[in-house]
Amino acid sequence: MINPYNYWGVIARYKKYLPITNRTPIITLNEGNTPLLYSEYLSNLLGKGFRVYLKYEGLNPTGSFKDRGMTVAISKALEEKAKAVICASTGNTSASASAYSAKAGIKCVVLIPEGAIALGKLSQALIHGAIVLAVRGNFDIALNLVREISAKFPITLVNSLNPYRIEGQKTASFEICDALGDAPDFQIMPVGNAGNITAYWKGYKEYKAFGKIKKLPRMLGFQAEGAAPIVKGHIIRNPQTIATAIRIGNPASWKQAELARDESGGLIDTVSDKQILDAYRLLAVKEGLFVEPASAASVAGLIKLKKIGYFGGKVQGLKGITTIVCILTGHGLKDPDRTIKTVKPPKIVQADLKAILKEINL
Ligand code: F0G
Repeated sequence: MINPYNYWGVIARYKKYLPITNRTPIITLNEGNTPLLYSEYLSNLLGKGFRVYLKYEGLNPTGSFKDRGMTVAISKALEEKAKAVICASTGNTSASASAYSAKAGIKCVVLIPEGAIALGKLSQALIHGAIVLAVRGNFDIALNLVREISAKFPITLVNSLNPYRIEGQKTASFEICDALGDAPDFQIMPVGNAGNITAYWKGYKEYKAFGKIKKLPRMLGFQAEGAAPIVKGHIIRNPQTIATAIRIGNPASWKQAELARDESGGLIDTVSDKQILDAYRLLAVKEGLFVEPASAASVAGLIKLKKIGYFGGKVQGLKGITTIVCILTGHGLKDPDRTIKTVKPPKIVQADLKAILKEINL
């Protein structure tokens, strides 16, 4: 039958693995189905026998992986007759929640840390008509507030504490397995509030239980050095990093992230802001991929692990080709301020053929 809505988002593709019923109204913007790109540069960097792939989640409708979870969370909220949803956000969750709420025709309230979210993300929440409140406090404080409000009032929480968010986000691991024919040996990703690492690990385990894959990956997570509560083992009261998306000091899914790490035989480690920015530039220059700084933490982590000999020595028992997937969680256009601070400004030249040819130096 021809689908009258012509959608092919993650619910349509993976309905069988999701808590969707015939009564669920499906709110979708055709999220998912993002490219898994082979990186020749990074594969060569790792050496013979390694294949590195990049999962470019910036190509989701609002420019980040959050859309996978939001299509399920908003569809279920509508099924449960919610009139409004609320979230705290470092930017991407609010962008996604406000877009999917606009499509669903329900009220959306977002709390963001004042002055600490990237310009693109702020623009998104505002243009979609959400009630945007800039809180004098950081993300962790804003999250506590929305938890309290949603517990006391008839408004649905759409942070990743909402299990439907995790359900939707796990579809990214299905896509990786479908593309590779099995799970990768390693998956590397940034960790902030830790919902995404929880979702991926759940997805891999379920796909294995369904007999769709034979192995499970080792989950390698990276936090920014100044915002690394899981690595340090305690809450960070005043987290700091240029990667504002993962500037989080008390992740909601802390325990689940540790579980993903330990069950998979992986690790959670830190990368510095400098390492993040180096990887951010490398992805743009060598791969043609523009990602936001937080997303570059995965590739920064890969390079760090390669340098300390992790793939050669510590991790034994690997035979044949080793596949590594780095998750690039959000688009570079989200944070133009950071880009402009990172690159050289354009050179100003006279509107004159000779002057221009001199610069091009053919
Ligand atoms: N990368 C990007 C681009 C993000 O926006 C986030 C989280 C993460 C990585 C980390 O994912 O929280 O599941 O561990 N952003 C949230 C937000 C916190 O509000 O947009 P996580």
